[in-house]
Amino acid sequence: MFAYNKPYVVNPSAPEQSLEAKRPQPDNGLDVPSPDRYYTREFMEREWRDLWPRVWLLAGVTSDIPESGDYSVFDIGHESVVLVRQKDGSIKAFYNACPHRGNKIALNDMGSVDKFTCAFHAWQFCTSGKLLKITDEESFHPDLIKHRPGLSELRCDSIGGLIFINMDGKAPPLADWIGLPKGYIENYAIDQMHVVRHVRTEWRGNWKVGVDSFYETYHLPHIHPQTQGVMEDFSQYDLYPNGFSRMIVPICTKSHRIEDQDTVTPDLQYMMQEAGMDPAAYRGPAQGVRGAVQAAKRARAKRLGLDHYERFTDGQLTDSWATGLFPNVQIGMHPEGVFIMRFLPHATDPERFYYDNITMYRYVDDPNYFVPGWMGLPKDTDVTGATRPAMEFYTADQKADLGPVLNQDVELVSAVHRGQKSRGFAGPLWCEQESRVRHFHRELDRVMGLRR
Ligand code: FES
Ligand SMILES: [Fe+2]
Repeated sequence: MFAYNKPYVVNPSAPEQSLEAKRPQPDNGLDVPSPDRYYTREFMEREWRDLWPRVWLLAGVTSDIPESGDYSVFDIGHESVVLVRQKDGSIKAFYNACPHRGNKIALNDMGSVDKFTCAFHAWQFCTSGKLLKITDEESFHPDLIKHRPGLSELRCDSIGGLIFINMDGKAPPLADWIGLPKGYIENYAIDQMHVVRHVRTEWRGNWKVGVDSFYETYHLPHIHPQTQGVMEDFSQYDLYPNGFSRMIVPICTKSHRIEDQDTVTPDLQYMMQEAGMDPAAYRGPAQGVRGAVQAAKRARAKRLGLDHYERFTDGQLTDSWATGLFPNVQIGMHPEGVFIMRFLPHATDPERFYYDNITMYRYVDDPNYFVPGWMGLPKDTDVTGATRPAMEFYTADQKADLGPVLNQDVELVSAVHRGQKSRGFAGPLWCEQESRVRHFHRELDRVMGLRR
């Protein structure tokens, strides 16, 4: 059951202090925001001024830049930021703009350098950002360059393998900003995972329509009916401070809406196989598959000496802990890997955004350990982490094939976006299955100074 005053709980016997326990729901009121936040230029410009510079933004992952001199680039709107691994192992972030005439100093998404050389007039900078050399320095009046212009640094910090930046420098320390309990992200050891696929697609809609759509499973039975055979569509929604949130989506189980809870379907058999089980040997009902898969994964992890599994509850071994990092990231977290979704605003058009998907996998070299099917990786994908694949990019017109579920979401988002512009639409009415959406917008308003 899911009633507005009695939300669904995945594991009612989870100890109160555990990460799995349902959190007490804060009162976020019943306000209905004006839909103009989804399409007007004014609101978009306000976000560029009052939102994006103020927040910590997920800019990269540590395993992309393991060695000193390795860098990766994060673009958002008109800004481009370079993350660079330092000699002492720390990470610095610089605006990707040469202090001479503003040319980008890093022209590739990723690379490794012992110094940065600007392609325009060949000024050089240490990886620490310090100015190394000005070409034909004697042609500059000494007063103009007496401050020895280096790369412009911005705040950068990381947690559990995820790298964040803050542009206006005024945000609280990252550890205080992350509203999740300590250990929540760290348990997954994302620093031990590698990017095995990175796909960015352009969608027709506002970035917040993207966030809203992925923050609930209320739409699953209607838009993605095919998921009913392998996952529950009632999720446990948990709201954390600073706009952070989580939904636990039970997987390896049929939706409660399906009458036949006994027959084990080929989809569920596949999931058992993925966990290293022999599906033919399973005699129980469909309802028992989730527990059996959890037990099989637990036993397999023990056999293979995968200690990090000990940090996870049974539920975490099957379910998706879809975790929202305010404002524009959701990570589907699993012991085998994580699926990072980043919703990047278009620089000038409030009616477009980029949906950035980063699939990360922790490689285990064993014939009984499989890459999970939910990752949807193409057959020839290198999952060992030996090669970092380049980002695949598709414009809206190119209509990327993202797989059946995400293809349905692409259509959905554009239809929702259009309807929200209608003069007949008065603003979203969110139920308690959409409590994360309300929580997100409330924090957005707060950060942007639209409410106290
Ligand atoms: S713009 Fe970089 S050296 Fe001139
Ligand atoms: Fe969806």
